[in-house]
Amino acid sequence: MLQYNLDGTLIGPGGLEAADLEKLASPLTSIREEVLAEADLWASGGNVPDAKQPLDAGFHLLPNRLLDELAAEGDDSELARIQASADRLSELVDRVVVLGIGGSYMGARALLEACCHPYYNQVAPTLRHGRPEIYFEGNNVDNDAVHGLLDLLAGDSRDWGIVCISKSGGTLETAAAFRIFLRELAESVGDEQLGKYVVPVTGDSGKLFDLATAIGCSERFPVPDGVGGRFSVLSAVGLLPAAIMGLDIEALLAGAAEMNEHFATASFEKNIVLQYVAAGHAMEKKHGADIRILSTWGKRLEAVGLWYDQLLAESLGKHEKGAMPLTIVNTRDLHSRGQQHQEGKRDKYITNLIVAEGTREPIAIGESDNNQDGLNELAKKTLPEVLSAAIAGTNQAYREDNRPTADLVIPELDELHLGQLLQMLMLATVVEGRLISVNPYGQPGVEAYKKNMNAILRK
Ligand code: PA5
Repeated sequence: MLQYNLDGTLIGPGGLEAADLEKLASPLTSIREEVLAEADLWASGGNVPDAKQPLDAGFHLLPNRLLDELAAEGDDSELARIQASADRLSELVDRVVVLGIGGSYMGARALLEACCHPYYNQVAPTLRHGRPEIYFEGNNVDNDAVHGLLDLLAGDSRDWGIVCISKSGGTLETAAAFRIFLRELAESVGDEQLGKYVVPVTGDSGKLFDLATAIGCSERFPVPDGVGGRFSVLSAVGLLPAAIMGLDIEALLAGAAEMNEHFATASFEKNIVLQYVAAGHAMEKKHGADIRILSTWGKRLEAVGLWYDQLLAESLGKHEKGAMPLTIVNTRDLHSRGQQHQEGKRDKYITNLIVAEGTREPIAIGESDNNQDGLNELAKKTLPEVLSAAIAGTNQAYREDNRPTADLVIPELDELHLGQLLQMLMLATVVEGRLISVNPYGQPGVEAYKKNMNAILRK
Protein backbone atom coordinates (compact mmCIF):
# COMPACT_ATOMS: atom_id res chain seq x y z
CA MET A 1 0.00 0.00 0.00
CA LEU A 2 1.09 3.60 -0.57
CA GLN A 3 2.63 5.35 2.42
CA TYR A 4 2.03 8.99 3.34
CA ASN A 5 4.51 10.65 5.65
CA LEU A 6 3.89 14.08 7.16
CA ASP A 7 7.10 14.38 9.23
CA GLY A 8 8.34 17.17 6.97
CA THR A 9 5.04 19.04 7.38
CA LEU A 10 4.68 18.85 11.16
CA ILE A 11 7.53 21.27 11.74
CA GLY A 12 5.88 24.07 13.67
CA PRO A 13 6.46 27.57 12.29
CA GLY A 14 6.01 27.55 8.53
CA GLY A 15 4.46 24.10 8.70
CA LEU A 16 1.67 22.45 10.67
CA GLU A 17 1.13 21.12 14.14
CA ALA A 18 -0.78 17.94 14.91
CA ALA A 19 -3.68 20.07 16.22
CA ASP A 20 -4.12 21.66 12.77
CA LEU A 21 -4.87 18.24 11.34
CA GLU A 22 -6.95 17.05 14.29
CA LYS A 23 -9.29 20.02 13.77
CA LEU A 24 -10.20 18.53 10.41
CA ALA A 25 -10.84 15.01 11.70
CA SER A 26 -14.54 15.48 12.33
CA PRO A 27 -15.48 17.41 9.15
CA LEU A 28 -13.43 15.12 6.93
CA THR A 29 -14.82 11.96 8.50
CA SER A 30 -18.34 13.27 7.83
CA ILE A 31 -17.38 14.16 4.27
CA ARG A 32 -16.06 10.65 3.75
CA GLU A 33 -19.55 9.35 4.67
CA GLU A 34 -21.08 11.84 2.26
CA VAL A 35 -18.75 10.76 -0.58
CA LEU A 36 -19.44 7.06 0.12
CA ALA A 37 -23.18 7.80 0.08
CA GLU A 38 -22.79 9.65 -3.24
CA ALA A 39 -21.11 6.58 -4.77
CA ASP A 40 -23.94 4.35 -3.51
CA LEU A 41 -26.59 6.78 -4.69
CA TRP A 42 -25.03 6.85 -8.10
CA ALA A 43 -24.69 3.07 -8.30
CA SER A 44 -28.31 2.52 -7.22
CA GLY A 45 -29.61 4.98 -9.81
CA GLY A 46 -31.38 7.03 -7.13
CA ASN A 47 -32.47 10.64 -7.62
CA VAL A 48 -29.66 13.16 -7.38
CA PRO A 49 -30.77 16.29 -5.51
CA ASP A 50 -30.40 19.57 -7.46
CA ALA A 51 -27.76 20.82 -5.04
CA LYS A 52 -25.50 17.91 -6.00
CA GLN A 53 -25.83 18.25 -9.78
CA PRO A 54 -23.79 17.23 -11.65
CA LEU A 55 -22.82 14.14 -9.65
CA ASP A 56 -20.35 12.10 -11.70
CA ALA A 57 -19.60 9.73 -8.83
CA GLY A 58 -19.55 6.70 -11.14
CA PHE A 59 -15.76 6.50 -11.08
CA HIS A 60 -15.70 5.58 -7.39
CA LEU A 61 -17.04 2.01 -7.50
CA LEU A 62 -16.15 1.43 -11.16
CA PRO A 63 -13.02 -0.67 -10.42
CA ASN A 64 -15.02 -2.94 -8.09
CA ARG A 65 -17.83 -3.25 -10.62
CA LEU A 66 -15.51 -4.14 -13.51
CA LEU A 67 -13.71 -6.77 -11.43
CA ASP A 68 -16.97 -8.27 -10.13
CA GLU A 69 -18.31 -8.41 -13.65
CA LEU A 70 -15.16 -10.20 -14.84
CA ALA A 71 -15.55 -12.80 -12.09
CA ALA A 72 -19.23 -13.31 -12.86
CA GLU A 73 -19.33 -13.09 -16.64
CA GLY A 74 -15.81 -14.08 -17.76
CA ASP A 75 -15.29 -13.59 -21.51
CA ASP A 76 -18.55 -11.65 -21.83
CA SER A 77 -17.51 -9.03 -19.30
CA GLU A 78 -16.43 -5.56 -20.37
CA LEU A 79 -12.92 -6.08 -19.03
CA ALA A 80 -12.44 -9.31 -20.97
CA ARG A 81 -13.75 -7.62 -24.11
CA ILE A 82 -11.34 -4.71 -23.63
CA GLN A 83 -8.47 -7.19 -23.31
CA ALA A 84 -9.62 -9.17 -26.35
CA SER A 85 -9.92 -6.05 -28.47
CA ALA A 86 -6.46 -4.86 -27.37
CA ASP A 87 -4.98 -8.27 -28.22
CA ARG A 88 -6.68 -8.34 -31.61
CA LEU A 89 -5.45 -4.85 -32.50
CA SER A 90 -1.94 -5.75 -31.30
CA GLU A 91 -1.94 -8.75 -33.65
CA LEU A 92 -3.25 -6.68 -36.53
CA VAL A 93 -1.00 -3.59 -36.37
CA ASP A 94 2.45 -2.47 -35.25
CA ARG A 95 1.46 1.08 -34.37
CA VAL A 96 -1.59 2.63 -32.74
CA VAL A 97 -2.52 6.30 -32.81
CA VAL A 98 -4.53 7.18 -29.70
CA LEU A 99 -6.67 10.26 -30.30
CA GLY A 100 -8.15 12.18 -27.35
CA ILE A 101 -7.73 15.29 -25.25
CA GLY A 102 -7.93 16.21 -21.55
CA GLY A 103 -9.42 13.37 -19.55
CA SER A 104 -9.62 11.32 -22.73
CA TYR A 105 -5.83 11.46 -23.13
CA MET A 106 -3.86 12.19 -19.99
CA GLY A 107 -4.59 8.99 -18.09
CA ALA A 108 -3.42 6.73 -20.93
CA ARG A 109 -0.26 8.77 -21.28
CA ALA A 110 0.37 8.57 -17.51
CA LEU A 111 0.02 4.78 -17.63
CA LEU A 112 2.40 4.48 -20.57
CA GLU A 113 5.11 6.62 -19.02
CA ALA A 114 4.82 5.12 -15.54
CA CYS A 115 4.52 1.43 -16.33
CA CYS A 116 6.09 0.81 -19.74
CA HIS A 117 9.67 0.89 -20.98
CA PRO A 118 10.97 4.50 -20.88
CA TYR A 119 11.77 4.23 -24.61
CA TYR A 120 8.68 2.18 -25.36
CA ASN A 121 8.32 3.17 -29.00
CA GLN A 122 12.01 3.03 -29.84
CA VAL A 123 13.12 -0.26 -28.27
CA ALA A 124 13.02 -3.65 -29.98
CA PRO A 125 9.44 -5.04 -29.95
CA THR A 126 10.49 -7.81 -27.55
CA LEU A 127 11.19 -5.17 -24.88
CA ARG A 128 7.59 -4.04 -25.12
CA HIS A 129 6.35 -7.64 -25.18
CA GLY A 130 5.53 -7.45 -28.87
CA ARG A 131 2.89 -4.79 -28.34
CA PRO A 132 2.37 -1.95 -30.88
CA GLU A 133 4.08 1.42 -30.71
CA ILE A 134 1.74 4.08 -29.29
CA TYR A 135 1.40 7.68 -30.48
CA PHE A 136 -0.88 10.31 -28.99
CA GLU A 137 -2.63 12.94 -31.11
CA GLY A 138 -5.87 14.88 -31.19
CA ASN A 139 -4.76 16.59 -27.98
CA ASN A 140 -3.96 19.87 -29.73
CA VAL A 141 -4.34 21.53 -33.11
CA ASP A 142 -0.67 21.65 -33.97
CA ASN A 143 -0.19 21.43 -37.72
CA ASP A 144 3.52 20.56 -37.53
CA ALA A 145 2.95 17.84 -34.96
CA VAL A 146 0.24 16.20 -37.07
CA HIS A 147 2.44 16.41 -40.15
CA GLY A 148 5.26 14.87 -38.13
CA LEU A 149 3.19 11.88 -37.09
CA LEU A 150 1.83 11.40 -40.60
CA ASP A 151 5.44 11.45 -41.92
CA LEU A 152 6.37 8.83 -39.38
CA LEU A 153 3.41 6.58 -40.19
CA ALA A 154 4.08 6.84 -43.92
CA GLY A 155 7.80 6.27 -43.37
CA ASP A 156 7.52 2.50 -43.42
CA SER A 157 5.07 -0.13 -44.54
CA ARG A 158 4.04 -1.44 -41.13
CA ASP A 159 0.31 -1.36 -40.40
CA TRP A 160 -1.27 1.07 -37.99
CA GLY A 161 -4.64 1.59 -36.38
CA ILE A 162 -6.58 4.20 -34.43
CA VAL A 163 -8.16 4.29 -30.99
CA CYS A 164 -10.34 7.40 -30.87
CA ILE A 165 -11.49 8.46 -27.41
CA SER A 166 -14.08 11.14 -26.78
CA LYS A 167 -16.86 10.93 -24.24
CA SER A 168 -18.96 13.62 -25.91
CA GLY A 169 -17.87 12.53 -29.36
CA GLY A 170 -17.82 16.13 -30.45
CA THR A 171 -14.58 17.68 -29.16
CA LEU A 172 -13.16 19.60 -32.10
CA GLU A 173 -9.46 18.87 -31.55
CA THR A 174 -10.06 15.12 -31.43
CA ALA A 175 -12.70 15.11 -34.18
CA ALA A 176 -10.48 17.04 -36.60
CA ALA A 177 -7.54 14.72 -35.93
CA PHE A 178 -9.80 11.67 -36.38
CA ARG A 179 -10.93 12.88 -39.78
CA ILE A 180 -7.34 13.54 -40.90
CA PHE A 181 -5.91 10.24 -39.64
CA LEU A 182 -8.92 8.28 -40.89
CA ARG A 183 -8.36 9.70 -44.39
CA GLU A 184 -4.75 8.51 -44.33
CA LEU A 185 -5.71 5.13 -42.92
CA ALA A 186 -8.37 4.64 -45.61
CA GLU A 187 -5.70 5.27 -48.23
CA SER A 188 -3.51 2.57 -46.79
CA VAL A 189 -6.05 -0.17 -45.90
CA GLY A 190 -9.05 0.78 -48.07
CA ASP A 191 -12.54 1.96 -47.01
CA GLU A 192 -13.87 -1.58 -46.68
CA GLN A 193 -11.33 -2.55 -44.04
CA LEU A 194 -11.40 0.65 -41.96
CA GLY A 195 -13.72 -0.70 -39.28
CA LYS A 196 -11.20 -3.38 -38.29
CA TYR A 197 -8.45 -0.84 -37.73
CA VAL A 198 -10.40 1.64 -35.65
CA VAL A 199 -11.71 1.21 -32.11
CA PRO A 200 -13.77 4.10 -30.67
CA VAL A 201 -14.29 4.77 -26.98
CA THR A 202 -17.32 7.02 -26.67
CA GLY A 203 -20.88 7.37 -25.40
CA ASP A 204 -23.89 5.43 -26.68
CA SER A 205 -24.78 8.21 -29.09
CA GLY A 206 -23.17 11.28 -30.59
CA LYS A 207 -21.04 12.21 -33.56
CA LEU A 208 -18.17 9.81 -32.92
CA PHE A 209 -20.64 6.98 -32.29
CA ASP A 210 -22.39 7.72 -35.61
CA LEU A 211 -19.13 8.00 -37.53
CA ALA A 212 -17.77 4.77 -36.05
CA THR A 213 -20.99 3.01 -37.00
CA ALA A 214 -20.80 4.39 -40.54
CA ILE A 215 -17.27 3.09 -41.09
CA GLY A 216 -18.21 -0.32 -39.71
CA CYS A 217 -16.30 -0.47 -36.42
CA SER A 218 -17.16 -3.83 -34.93
CA GLU A 219 -15.84 -3.03 -31.47
CA ARG A 220 -16.75 0.02 -29.41
CA PHE A 221 -16.29 0.71 -25.73
CA PRO A 222 -18.35 3.06 -23.61
CA VAL A 223 -17.34 5.85 -21.28
CA PRO A 224 -19.79 4.84 -18.55
CA ASP A 225 -22.49 7.32 -17.60
CA GLY A 226 -21.60 9.29 -14.53
CA VAL A 227 -17.86 9.05 -15.09
CA GLY A 228 -16.38 12.45 -15.98
CA GLY A 229 -13.45 12.70 -18.39
CA ARG A 230 -10.74 13.37 -15.80
CA PHE A 231 -12.14 10.60 -13.59
CA SER A 232 -12.24 8.07 -16.44
CA VAL A 233 -8.71 6.62 -16.44
CA LEU A 234 -9.94 3.34 -14.96
CA SER A 235 -12.70 2.93 -17.55
CA ALA A 236 -12.13 1.86 -21.18
CA VAL A 237 -10.70 5.37 -21.71
CA GLY A 238 -7.48 4.38 -19.95
CA LEU A 239 -7.87 0.61 -19.85
CA LEU A 240 -8.04 0.01 -23.61
CA PRO A 241 -4.77 1.87 -24.35
CA ALA A 242 -3.23 0.25 -21.26
CA ALA A 243 -4.19 -3.22 -22.47
CA ILE A 244 -2.76 -2.41 -25.91
CA MET A 245 0.51 -1.47 -24.18
CA GLY A 246 0.46 -4.89 -22.53
CA LEU A 247 -0.26 -3.63 -19.02
CA ASP A 248 -2.09 -5.75 -16.47
CA ILE A 249 -5.43 -3.99 -16.35
CA GLU A 250 -6.84 -6.29 -13.69
CA ALA A 251 -3.98 -5.31 -11.36
CA LEU A 252 -4.68 -1.62 -12.01
CA LEU A 253 -8.30 -2.11 -10.97
CA ALA A 254 -7.34 -4.30 -8.02
CA GLY A 255 -5.09 -1.48 -6.73
CA ALA A 256 -7.92 1.02 -7.08
CA ALA A 257 -10.33 -1.34 -5.29
CA GLU A 258 -7.81 -1.67 -2.44
CA MET A 259 -7.71 2.12 -2.16
CA ASN A 260 -11.52 2.21 -2.06
CA GLU A 261 -11.46 -0.24 0.84
CA HIS A 262 -8.80 1.76 2.66
CA PHE A 263 -10.65 5.03 2.13
CA ALA A 264 -13.93 3.58 3.41
CA THR A 265 -12.54 1.87 6.50
CA ALA A 266 -9.28 3.43 7.78
CA SER A 267 -9.50 5.87 10.69
CA PHE A 268 -8.79 9.56 10.05
CA GLU A 269 -5.26 9.23 11.46
CA LYS A 270 -4.41 6.32 9.17
CA ASN A 271 -6.47 7.29 6.15
CA ILE A 272 -4.13 8.39 3.35
CA VAL A 273 -6.87 10.15 1.41
CA LEU A 274 -8.16 12.13 4.39
CA GLN A 275 -4.67 12.97 5.70
CA TYR A 276 -3.60 14.17 2.26
CA VAL A 277 -6.63 16.46 1.98
CA ALA A 278 -6.23 17.68 5.55
CA ALA A 279 -2.56 18.61 5.10
CA GLY A 280 -3.09 20.45 1.80
CA HIS A 281 -6.14 22.29 3.12
CA ALA A 282 -4.53 23.23 6.45
CA MET A 283 -1.43 24.56 4.69
CA GLU A 284 -3.65 26.74 2.53
CA LYS A 285 -5.71 28.04 5.45
CA LYS A 286 -2.85 28.57 7.89
CA HIS A 287 -0.11 29.82 5.59
CA GLY A 288 -1.85 30.77 2.35
CA ALA A 289 0.11 28.00 0.63
CA ASP A 290 -2.25 27.56 -2.30
CA ILE A 291 0.34 26.33 -4.78
CA ARG A 292 0.45 22.54 -4.52
CA ILE A 293 3.66 21.21 -5.91
CA LEU A 294 3.77 17.54 -6.79
CA SER A 295 7.47 16.90 -6.78
CA THR A 296 7.97 13.67 -8.69
CA TRP A 297 11.28 11.93 -8.16
CA GLY A 298 11.89 10.14 -11.43
CA LYS A 299 11.07 10.80 -15.04
CA ARG A 300 8.45 8.08 -15.23
CA LEU A 301 6.04 9.97 -12.98
CA GLU A 302 5.87 13.22 -14.93
CA ALA A 303 2.77 12.28 -16.91
CA VAL A 304 1.05 11.05 -13.72
CA GLY A 305 1.73 14.53 -12.34
CA LEU A 306 0.28 16.19 -15.44
CA TRP A 307 -2.79 13.95 -15.18
CA TYR A 308 -3.16 15.13 -11.58
CA ASP A 309 -2.67 18.78 -12.56
CA GLN A 310 -5.72 18.47 -14.78
CA LEU A 311 -7.70 16.57 -12.17
CA LEU A 312 -7.17 19.15 -9.46
CA ALA A 313 -7.36 22.25 -11.66
CA GLU A 314 -10.49 21.27 -13.59
CA SER A 315 -12.28 19.86 -10.55
CA LEU A 316 -11.65 22.53 -7.93
CA GLY A 317 -10.73 25.66 -9.89
CA LYS A 318 -14.22 27.15 -9.64
CA HIS A 319 -15.88 30.14 -7.93
CA GLU A 320 -12.46 31.76 -7.49
CA LYS A 321 -11.37 28.86 -5.28
CA GLY A 322 -9.10 25.84 -5.64
CA ALA A 323 -5.37 25.36 -5.12
CA MET A 324 -2.99 25.71 -8.04
CA PRO A 325 -1.36 22.37 -8.97
CA LEU A 326 2.14 22.23 -10.38
CA THR A 327 4.09 19.11 -11.29
CA ILE A 328 7.85 19.10 -11.24
CA VAL A 329 10.35 16.34 -12.00
CA ASN A 330 13.41 16.04 -9.85
CA THR A 331 16.28 16.16 -9.81
CA ARG A 332 15.81 17.87 -13.21
CA ASP A 333 13.77 20.78 -11.88
CA LEU A 334 16.01 21.41 -8.88
CA HIS A 335 18.05 23.08 -11.59
CA SER A 336 15.18 25.23 -12.78
CA ARG A 337 12.47 25.81 -10.15
CA GLY A 338 14.49 24.69 -7.14
CA GLN A 339 15.76 28.18 -6.31
CA GLN A 340 12.24 29.55 -6.05
CA HIS A 341 11.01 26.63 -3.93
CA GLN A 342 13.90 27.08 -1.52
CA GLU A 343 13.86 30.86 -1.19
CA GLY A 344 10.82 32.26 -3.02
CA LYS A 345 7.40 33.22 -1.63
CA ARG A 346 6.00 30.98 1.09
CA ASP A 347 2.93 30.14 -0.95
CA LYS A 348 3.86 26.54 -1.83
CA TYR A 349 3.29 23.15 -0.30
CA ILE A 350 5.46 20.39 -1.69
CA THR A 351 4.42 16.75 -1.82
CA ASN A 352 7.22 14.44 -2.88
CA LEU A 353 6.10 11.50 -4.97
CA ILE A 354 8.74 8.84 -4.38
CA VAL A 355 9.13 5.29 -5.69
CA ALA A 356 10.68 3.13 -2.94
CA GLU A 357 11.87 0.18 -5.01
CA GLY A 358 13.12 0.61 -8.58
CA THR A 359 12.30 -1.97 -11.23
CA ARG A 360 15.78 -2.37 -12.72
CA GLU A 361 19.21 -3.37 -11.39
CA PRO A 362 20.88 -0.31 -9.78
CA ILE A 363 23.69 1.10 -11.96
CA ALA A 364 26.85 1.99 -10.03
CA ILE A 365 28.89 5.09 -10.92
CA GLY A 366 31.95 2.84 -11.17
CA GLU A 367 35.75 3.26 -11.04
CA SER A 368 37.60 4.93 -13.90
CA ASP A 369 41.27 5.54 -14.75
CA ASN A 370 40.17 9.00 -15.85
CA ASN A 371 39.26 10.42 -12.48
CA GLN A 372 39.36 14.06 -13.59
CA ASP A 373 35.68 14.27 -12.52
CA GLY A 374 36.65 13.09 -9.02
CA LEU A 375 33.94 10.44 -9.02
CA ASN A 376 36.10 7.48 -7.96
CA GLU A 377 35.29 8.44 -4.39
CA LEU A 378 31.64 7.65 -5.19
CA ALA A 379 32.41 4.68 -7.42
CA LYS A 380 30.30 2.22 -5.40
CA LYS A 381 27.30 4.51 -5.18
CA THR A 382 24.41 3.63 -7.46
CA LEU A 383 21.99 5.98 -9.23
CA PRO A 384 19.15 5.06 -6.81
CA GLU A 385 21.48 5.92 -3.91
CA VAL A 386 22.29 9.28 -5.47
CA LEU A 387 18.56 9.92 -5.93
CA SER A 388 17.83 9.00 -2.29
CA ALA A 389 20.56 11.40 -1.16
CA ALA A 390 19.03 14.12 -3.34
CA ILE A 391 15.58 13.56 -1.80
CA ALA A 392 16.93 13.57 1.77
CA GLY A 393 19.17 16.57 1.10
CA THR A 394 16.36 18.57 -0.50
CA ASN A 395 13.89 17.78 2.29
CA GLN A 396 16.52 18.74 4.87
CA ALA A 397 17.20 22.05 3.14
CA TYR A 398 13.48 22.86 3.07
CA ARG A 399 13.06 21.88 6.72
CA GLU A 400 15.98 24.06 7.81
CA ASP A 401 14.16 27.01 6.27
CA ASN A 402 10.75 26.05 7.67
CA ARG A 403 9.41 24.99 4.31
CA PRO A 404 7.08 22.04 4.75
CA THR A 405 7.06 18.90 2.64
CA ALA A 406 5.15 15.62 2.67
CA ASP A 407 6.25 12.29 1.19
CA LEU A 408 3.88 10.08 -0.76
CA VAL A 409 5.72 6.81 -1.24
CA ILE A 410 4.84 4.24 -3.91
CA PRO A 411 6.37 0.87 -2.95
CA GLU A 412 6.93 -0.10 -6.61
CA LEU A 413 5.96 1.49 -9.89
CA ASP A 414 3.68 -1.27 -11.12
CA GLU A 415 0.05 -1.49 -12.13
CA LEU A 416 -1.25 -2.39 -8.65
CA HIS A 417 0.35 0.59 -6.94
CA LEU A 418 -0.46 2.93 -9.79
CA GLY A 419 -4.11 1.89 -9.47
CA GLN A 420 -3.93 2.76 -5.76
CA LEU A 421 -2.35 6.13 -6.50
CA LEU A 422 -4.77 7.21 -9.23
CA GLN A 423 -7.79 6.24 -7.15
CA MET A 424 -6.35 7.95 -4.06
CA LEU A 425 -5.90 11.23 -5.93
CA MET A 426 -9.38 11.07 -7.48
CA LEU A 427 -10.99 10.41 -4.09
CA ALA A 428 -8.93 13.16 -2.46
CA THR A 429 -10.05 15.63 -5.11
CA VAL A 430 -13.71 14.84 -4.49
CA VAL A 431 -13.29 15.02 -0.71
CA GLU A 432 -11.53 18.37 -0.94
CA GLY A 433 -14.23 19.70 -3.25
CA ARG A 434 -16.88 18.85 -0.68
CA LEU A 435 -14.72 20.41 2.06
CA ILE A 436 -14.42 23.76 0.27
CA SER A 437 -17.98 23.66 -1.11
CA VAL A 438 -16.94 23.30 -4.74
CA ASN A 439 -18.67 20.65 -6.84
CA PRO A 440 -15.68 18.62 -8.13
CA TYR A 441 -17.66 17.38 -11.11
CA GLY A 442 -18.39 19.27 -14.32
CA GLN A 443 -16.18 21.91 -15.94
CA PRO A 444 -18.41 24.80 -16.99
CA GLY A 445 -15.42 27.11 -17.45
CA VAL A 446 -14.02 24.99 -20.29
CA GLU A 447 -17.09 25.66 -22.41
CA ALA A 448 -16.37 29.36 -22.90
CA TYR A 449 -13.39 28.92 -25.23
CA LYS A 450 -15.13 26.12 -27.14
CA LYS A 451 -18.17 28.28 -27.80
CA ASN A 452 -16.05 31.20 -29.00
CA MET A 453 -13.77 29.00 -31.13
CA ASN A 454 -16.72 27.37 -32.85
CA ALA A 455 -18.41 30.72 -33.44
CA ILE A 456 -15.23 32.15 -34.96
CA LEU A 457 -14.69 29.09 -37.19
CA ARG A 458 -18.27 28.89 -38.41
CA LYS A 459 -18.75 32.63 -39.04
O1 PA5 B 1 -12.28 16.09 -17.71
C1 PA5 B 1 -12.99 16.37 -18.65
O2 PA5 B 1 -14.21 16.13 -18.66
C2 PA5 B 1 -12.40 17.00 -19.89
O3 PA5 B 1 -11.03 17.19 -19.75
C3 PA5 B 1 -12.64 16.10 -21.10
O4 PA5 B 1 -12.05 14.86 -20.88
C4 PA5 B 1 -12.08 16.73 -22.37
O5 PA5 B 1 -12.65 17.99 -22.57
C5 PA5 B 1 -12.37 15.85 -23.58
O6 PA5 B 1 -13.74 15.65 -23.72
P1 PA5 B 1 -14.31 14.47 -24.60
O7 PA5 B 1 -13.88 13.19 -24.02
O8 PA5 B 1 -15.79 14.66 -24.56
O9 PA5 B 1 -13.76 14.64 -25.99
